[in-house]
Amino acid sequence: MQKRVSAAGPLRGSLSLAGDKSISHRYALIASIAEGPTRIRNYSTGADCHSTLGCVRALGIEVEGAGTEFVIHGRGLDGLRAPAADLDAGNSGSTIRMLSGILAAQPFTSRIFGDASLSRRPMQRIIQPLEEMGARIRSREGRFPPLEIHGGPLHAIEYALPVASAQVKTCILLAGLYAEGETAVTGPVASRDHTEVALREFGADLTVAPHRITVEGRPKLTALDLEVPSDLSSAAFFLAAALLVPGSHLAIRGVGINPTRAALLDFLRGMGARLRIPNLESRHGELVGEIEVEYSALEGGAVEGPLTAALIDEIPVLAVLGAATERGLTVRDASELRIKETDRIRTVVENLRRMGVAAEELPDGMAIPGHQKFRAAQFDSFGDHRIAMAFAVAALAAEGESVIEGAEAASVSFPEFWDTLERLGNPLKASRA
Ligand code: S3P
Repeated sequence: MQKRVSAAGPLRGSLSLAGDKSISHRYALIASIAEGPTRIRNYSTGADCHSTLGCVRALGIEVEGAGTEFVIHGRGLDGLRAPAADLDAGNSGSTIRMLSGILAAQPFTSRIFGDASLSRRPMQRIIQPLEEMGARIRSREGRFPPLEIHGGPLHAIEYALPVASAQVKTCILLAGLYAEGETAVTGPVASRDHTEVALREFGADLTVAPHRITVEGRPKLTALDLEVPSDLSSAAFFLAAALLVPGSHLAIRGVGINPTRAALLDFLRGMGARLRIPNLESRHGELVGEIEVEYSALEGGAVEGPLTAALIDEIPVLAVLGAATERGLTVRDASELRIKETDRIRTVVENLRRMGVAAEELPDGMAIPGHQKFRAAQFDSFGDHRIAMAFAVAALAAEGESVIEGAEAASVSFPEFWDTLERLGNPLKASRA
């Protein structure tokens, strides 16, 4: 599908967005192995989180509901059943990596696969710790999906994470629920901590220190009544759009601003963004707030070191914003971006150049000079949701009409993206490719 986006007038109004993708995955997975029915409201509408629901259903868990509200009838740690067919993770790295931690402990073999993009993403990072815990996993070329997971009794390990990945951390913690004794994850554990927060809410016994997290095996997990905060990574596209288009003023309600995700807000503020978070509350251990944003002239900045991991999903749209700042934006220590849904260093730089924006590709990041003007252009999402949405935002600041090929990719995390953009007053045209 193609979308046509023209220069926007000010974006004004108030928005509610669907539930956070990261939290929805975790609630669905943990609810499946908790005891009793867990109700989840404001569940993510994204295709990725529906891949997770499809997998847990295929594992014998009853999932009632539709839209954004589901009841997951958990059957306890040992209640999953051998699936009748291969499990389909679609485009979702979170589904395959996190669910594998649970599959590794099952007394049956399962196969899990994904689409062409997921089939090229590295799985060695979960295969290694899960095999150390006692599972046997066959994969394509020893590192890519599909995975054939021969589960069985697991033993606790102490595992030093080689990369700051919340998906890998989660995979090991979920596997640790099945091991006797204490499983520990050490090293760069300061990635998003939704798993730690949710596991505690469901009743697991966890300790969290700056470089070490432990989980006790064989807890009794109890069903909950949950509401997922709105997705900050989805909100990021509208925050960036408002910061880019003069006269804009938006309020986004009920957004998850867990401190391990909210680096985006601090970073934008540090560049001069006028942001306010008037109403804060805590929901099941997750911080939630309303975000108000106004058009602001931004200074530019550098994303590097531990900040890169904290902003990893927002880098495509920050790169777009960076070109319009005073001093530009540099991104370093971001080689993980090369193994996301696309090589996001390459796809961002390619699309920026199509808009006449200078951008340099670095081995572990990119350098985008500031003070640049966007030219309307034809882009490609390359099948990557965050690339489709980041360049729709860029198109708002370009004179003339831009065309985005593969616009349907946005549905992976944010199916309402195009309608929301249109509702905010942007002249948007859709056409079939
Ligand atoms: C996620 C972790 C990040 C992020 C992804 C979601 C999660 O991936 O990019 O979109 O929910 O844990 P990594 O764990 O690979 O860094």
